Amino acid sequence: MTTTTTTVPHVCRVCSGPLTPFLDLGRQPLSDAFRLPDDPAEEFFFHLRVGVCGDCAMVQLLEEVPRDRMFREDYPYRSSGSSVMRAHFTETARRLLATELRGDDAFAVELGCNDGVMLRTVSEAGVRHLGVEPSGGVAELARGKGVRVRTAFFEEDTARDIAATEGRADVVYAANTLCHIPYLDSVFRGLDAVLKPTGAFVFEDPYLGDIVERTSFDQIYDEHFYFFTARSVRALAHRHGFDLVDVERLPVHGGEVRYTLSRTGTRTPSPAVAALLAEEEGTALHDLKTLESFATRVDGVRADLHALLTRLRAEGASVVAYGATAKSATVTNYCGLTPALISRVHDTTPAKQGRLTPGARLPVHPASDFTAPYPDYALLFAWNHAEEIMAKETAFRAAGGKWITYVPEVRVL
Ligand code: SAH
Ligand code: TYD
Ligand code: ZN
Repeated sequence: MTTTTTTVPHVCRVCSGPLTPFLDLGRQPLSDAFRLPDDPAEEFFFHLRVGVCGDCAMVQLLEEVPRDRMFREDYPYRSSGSSVMRAHFTETARRLLATELRGDDAFAVELGCNDGVMLRTVSEAGVRHLGVEPSGGVAELARGKGVRVRTAFFEEDTARDIAATEGRADVVYAANTLCHIPYLDSVFRGLDAVLKPTGAFVFEDPYLGDIVERTSFDQIYDEHFYFFTARSVRALAHRHGFDLVDVERLPVHGGEVRYTLSRTGTRTPSPAVAALLAEEEGTALHDLKTLESFATRVDGVRADLHALLTRLRAEGASVVAYGATAKSATVTNYCGLTPALISRVHDTTPAKQGRLTPGARLPVHPASDFTAPYPDYALLFAWNHAEEIMAKETAFRAAGGKWITYVPEVRVL
């Protein structure tokens, strides 16, 4: 008997170019689907793999999870859960107010406004605005802060309707949201419909350069479909009649880039664009060799983390985790971190507490229960908020507790 296998070629979601897979993170659940312990429903899983486009250099997932499974009424992520992020978005709003939103009757649109962390400052300044947010629960929290929100996915139809009913926007802003949207062709047709001729599209997302440099593979999960770079964003912009006119490195969430796009020929690109493009060229960021060596390091982190936790448990140490992040779904499920290795995860989000983490099923306890008698070790899943968390949990260290991190490598701090 003979078996034949057909290899279906992977194509780029942006330009239909050839996609080369370079990292396989296995079978993964929905990263933000925290389950009640007695939930009888079958859990949803998909195959988490990443590839790079040979034509436009866009790094992206190979498999797309239906959006309604992820962004639902009970989507648990709250943007305002970190004081550092609240300060970051207040500052962002002030800058937009001082630049793009200076004119009379200025109008701002935000995609994925979540609980209104950025738009509340725009609203308080009395400036016209609209958030577009498909997750009903968080949209309602934003309304409670005086923010106007439409519960919808941003795409061409939504944008046309906004332009028709509210007029065109001076700026469209999106933080940690554009990378969540596979259907960018529809988004760009929408931007074209809703932006004023000289308006700007400003967005910030985790930067592939930082992910590769720090081996922060946990930025890869169902919701993060694209991993942008100056090169891939410039190619994307050109396809849709836009230029990449500014880039700015941001320290938040483990390293991001804020990109500014405007219609072709309407603004002079800042020197920062050429500088970042040159840096990406210099580090060969998009080369398959670079990405494959990243994948090799990811595999090393998995082996090191599993070995460390197994040894600590064998020695009788108690180990918990801190921060039930979406990112940690990739870590727990890829590295095989079971309740036998990590007894619980502490987190401040009420909607996650009393539930089990997706796939790995680690119980989530309130952060307020992270008190004496402390565990021996705490694995920091929310490593991107390390400073903020360590500053408020000084008693853990004082009691002899030790933090464990895995970014950029597995270390006991
Ligand atoms: N901007 C916030 C929230 C990021 S989480 C921050 O930076 O903290 C991503 C958000 O995007 C979620 O609230 C999700 O519901 C929303 N989202 C997903 N797809 C979207 C789409 N097509 N249009 C608008 N928002 C979307
Ligand atoms: P975050 O890293 O912002 O995003 P993602 O879920 O997309 O990976 O998530 C931070 C998580 O950590 C969130 O569930 C809230 C929690 N957290 C705490 O428990 N305590 C804290 O002090 C902070 C800043 C976050
Ligand atoms: Zn492509």
